[in-house]
Amino acid sequence: MKVAGTPYRSIRPDPDSAGVFVIDQRWLPHEFRVVRLGSLDEVALAITDMWIRGAPLIGATAAYGLAIAMASDPSDAALEAAYSRLARTRPTAINLLWALNDLRQRLQPLAPSARRDAAYARAAEIADEDVEINRRIGENGLPLIRKLAEAKGGKRVNILTHCNAGWLATVDWGTATSPIYQAFDAGIDLHVWVDETRPRNQGASLTAWELAGHGVPHTLIADNAGGHLMQQGEVDMVIVGTDRVTANGDVANKIGTYLKALAAADNGVPFHVALPSPTIDWSVERGADIPIEERSGREVSHVWGRTDDGALAAVRISPEATPLGNPAFDVTPARLVTSFITERGVCPASRDGLRSLFG
Ligand code: MRU
Repeated sequence: MKVAGTPYRSIRPDPDSAGVFVIDQRWLPHEFRVVRLGSLDEVALAITDMWIRGAPLIGATAAYGLAIAMASDPSDAALEAAYSRLARTRPTAINLLWALNDLRQRLQPLAPSARRDAAYARAAEIADEDVEINRRIGENGLPLIRKLAEAKGGKRVNILTHCNAGWLATVDWGTATSPIYQAFDAGIDLHVWVDETRPRNQGASLTAWELAGHGVPHTLIADNAGGHLMQQGEVDMVIVGTDRVTANGDVANKIGTYLKALAAADNGVPFHVALPSPTIDWSVERGADIPIEERSGREVSHVWGRTDDGALAAVRISPEATPLGNPAFDVTPARLVTSFITERGVCPASRDGLRSLFG
């Protein structure tokens, strides 16, 4: 997608040496900063501290992280150490382990001298594949939006999304946003309700910034407004991303997704999940077994932003002694999900639905 007219991907390799460039998303929407990650430590920190985030981008960044590690030490021991280090960075998005397992399996049989180049090549492939997967998710999701527009006689379609499952969360296009961008580009009149997504506000900071960059009409709302808007008939569909889908079709995504799914079910609003296949975890049967990341309470007690005098600052919003809890993801049971929009088509959110597309 474009930033001020220039096409960007959220991650790109450093052509001159062993490194990778990413957008440091902590500064958005206030500043657009591109940083170079040049060591395993830097890549691990960038994932843990959410300079980069979003399940598919976490996977692509981890793949480059392993490549960077191989550039400085391609030994068996270094491969295992880098794998373990990166695997610990964030627990919920399965794309991380998917990418690390993919690379490790390819690198282990190779001579150490061949590992650096092979790792870079595979990381680049994973990034390219992600772009194509997301483009196809958009193609497959577009007819769902078109159908709603037709049913409304061409009147504006209102879509609600949660967190950021946009191009910043992937290598390009986004998952949940890809059908939106493609429908908008096809001339369908649409508008997006953007949940702020407390506590880190990825909706307010990232999704709102992205949609504005592409000219897509949108309105930022407090997380708690979604149910009310559904009752008022102001939401025609919900599309969210996901960090992990289990074999039975349960969906882990950013905290608050489950409440939106409950409200959607109560109001007869279709609730779609944009699902790239690397986000399916066939090894876990049901959502209750997905590890849910517990993040720092500071994300709850403080809000980060630009003050009226132009400074970037974190301000405390709760008493200093208040105990804090911060589960970062929740699980939406498959029964609340209308369909999965995948790169291979749209399917019911169930074991059979997933098998019908992915065998
Ligand atoms: O904690 P984050 O910002 O990494 O969480 C991101 C989300 O929950 C996204 O909705 C999810 O990763 C899907 S990204 C295409």
